[in-house]
Amino acid sequence: MANKEDYELKVSAAGRVNLIGEHIDYCGGKVFPAALGMRNTVYVRANGTNKINLSWTTLSDKVTLELDKLEEYCSLKYGNYQAGSALMWRKAGHKLVGCDMLQDCTVPFGSGLSSSAAIEVSTIAALAAVAGEKAEPVEVAKIAQRAEREYAGVNCGIMDQYASACGKAGHAMLLDCNTLECEYVPVKTGDCSLVIINCNKPHSLVDSRYNERRRETDEAFQLLKAPAKINCLAELTAESFDELKSLLPAKIRLRVKHVVEECERVRLAAEAMKTGDMRALGVLLNSSHASLRDLYEVTGKELDALADAAQSHSACLGSRMTGGGFGGCTVSIVKTNALDEFGEYVKEKYKKATGYDASVYQTEISDGITVEKI
Ligand code: GLA
Repeated sequence: MANKEDYELKVSAAGRVNLIGEHIDYCGGKVFPAALGMRNTVYVRANGTNKINLSWTTLSDKVTLELDKLEEYCSLKYGNYQAGSALMWRKAGHKLVGCDMLQDCTVPFGSGLSSSAAIEVSTIAALAAVAGEKAEPVEVAKIAQRAEREYAGVNCGIMDQYASACGKAGHAMLLDCNTLECEYVPVKTGDCSLVIINCNKPHSLVDSRYNERRRETDEAFQLLKAPAKINCLAELTAESFDELKSLLPAKIRLRVKHVVEECERVRLAAEAMKTGDMRALGVLLNSSHASLRDLYEVTGKELDALADAAQSHSACLGSRMTGGGFGGCTVSIVKTNALDEFGEYVKEKYKKATGYDASVYQTEISDGITVEKI
C-alpha cells in the first residue's frame, strides 16, 4: 500500500448525527443534523489510466473500477459506493480521470452515522479535485444521493449527503429538505454535552424496512395531497391531519402522525438550541424516540434498550435514536460533569438488557467537505 504522503490530494467528507427530525427528510420536512469529526478521507492521485484503483487503510481488499464499466459494480462488497458515485458524477456531465484512491473511514459502518454518505460525498469531491474541478457542495450532495438511491438501492432523502457535504464546525443545520434552504445554528449546549452511543447491532438500510416506510408515506401523500392541498407530506398541519385521518389506512395513519408531530418538534428543538434551553431540547428528544418506536416503528429492541438506559440516568436530559433506525446509534444530552459515570451506567444497563456491548464515541461537530494539497 502506498503511503498517504504519496498522493496529491487529501479530500474528506463528514459522517453526521441527526439531532432531531427523523424520517421526514423524504417527506419534505425540516431536519436538524450536524456534521461530525468522524469522516471518510480519500487520498487521491491521477494515474493516467482508465481505471480507479481503490485501497483502504482498514481493509486488505484492493478493487479496480474500469471507468467504462462503472455500471457493473453494484454488488461489490467494498467499492460499490465509490463506483456508483463516479458513475452518477459522470452522468451529471462531469469529467472522470483515472486515479488511485486510498480510503480511510473513521465513521463506523452500519452505525446510523452516515458512513455511506461520507464515502459517496468524499469520493465525488475527490474525483472532482483530481480532475482539476472545483466541486460545488450542494451539487455533490445531490449527486451522492443519486448514487445511494439508484446504485445502492436505498431510496433515501437528502439529509445525510447534504450534512456530509455542507456541514460547518460547531453548527447544526436546520435544513429544509423541500427547498434546500439551510440555516446554520450554533450548537451551544451550556453545561451539557451531546453523547453518541452505538448499540452495536449493525443495520443495513438496503434490506431494512426503510424503503417500506418511504412507500407508506408516498401512499399517504397521494391520498392527502388533493384534500389537504399540500405539495409534500411535511406541509400537512395538525388540524388537517385530524380532519382527514379517516382517509388513511390504520398503519399509515400512525406513520403520518409521526411526520406531523416530528416536524413540529424540529421547529421547537431549533428554538430550544437557539435559546440554550437544554431541558426543552431533551424532552423533545425523548418524545421523538417514543414516536419512532410506537408510531413509525423503526427502532427495535436494542435502540429502545439503549435509549431507555440513557433516559433513566439522572444526568441525562434526553435521548433518542439517530439516523435510519433498526440499529445504529443514539444521541443524548448529558450534564458534562457526569459524562464518565453516565457512559459506564448506560453500557452496563444496556448489556444486561441485550447482551451487546455499547460504544460511547468522542467526536466533535465539524466541517463538511475539506480539500487539501498534500
Ligand atoms: C437515513 C437516510 C436519510 C433519512 C434518515 C432518517 O439516514 O439516508 O435520508 O431519511 O435515514 O431520518
